[in-house]
Amino acid sequence: MAELFDNYKSNYGEAVAGSIRFSGLRHDFFLIAKADLLQRLVVERGLRQWVRALDVGCGVGSLHPYLEGVFESLDGCDVSEQSILRASQNNPRVSYRACTTPRLPYGDGAFDLAFASCVVHHVPPASWLDFFREMRRVVRPGGVACIIEHNPYNPLTRLAVFRCPFDQDAVLLNAARARSLFQQTGFQDIRSEHFLLLPSARPFARRLERLLAPLPLGAQYACSAHV
Ligand SMILES: C[S@@+](CC[C@H](N)C(=O)[O-])C[C@H]1O[C@@H](n2cnc3c(N)ncnc32)[C@H](O)[C@@H]1O
Repeated sequence: MAELFDNYKSNYGEAVAGSIRFSGLRHDFFLIAKADLLQRLVVERGLRQWVRALDVGCGVGSLHPYLEGVFESLDGCDVSEQSILRASQNNPRVSYRACTTPRLPYGDGAFDLAFASCVVHHVPPASWLDFFREMRRVVRPGGVACIIEHNPYNPLTRLAVFRCPFDQDAVLLNAARARSLFQQTGFQDIRSEHFLLLPSARPFARRLERLLAPLPLGAQYACSAHV
């Protein structure tokens, strides 16, 4: 896995853009929606104002420019050392570490929030429980973990995954499976919502998306839970 994404250290954004070109949407449309969702999650989950956040599987740090100023501190880690090098160059205010073992390179309870965007479908299913256990370990009691994943029921998502050169071995999981993984690893107050349904970031479109979030319609979903 590390080697696969090492190869995309310079053209990760182009590869994603190529896979979603048919939609007419730019990569940053998706990144902004995810950053907005994480910002809202902090408020809705009642996290205190100064949040120490960790992005697990952050890749080249594409999301991080959109999270500037959202958290008190932001750390990122990834199995791809080349991606981490690129992320550090792009985002000097974020702290990055490579994670070369299944154990994340952070202490117990080091973060208020840990999130992983489009990572779990690259982890072999046999390691999913361990991945969730590590997310839980590095979040303090009362903190929150969140995964953002492709919605396998959305045909346009399926097409994007089919067209994406680094998604050939991806194993998609639906929101029910994600909730079950959170439950099996001891998380509480597990919630999921689908988003990225409408091709607009206007407030009305976002409000409509929120109303439809329980239905498996949006291109992606977020599943979060308290430790
Ligand atoms: C599709 S990319 C997503 C990158 C970034 N999260 C984003 O949304 O732009 C998936 C990333 O997950 C990383 N990855 C895969 N398995 C991982 C694991 N077990 N721990 C940490 N990172 C992992 C890959 O190296 C890759 O950078």
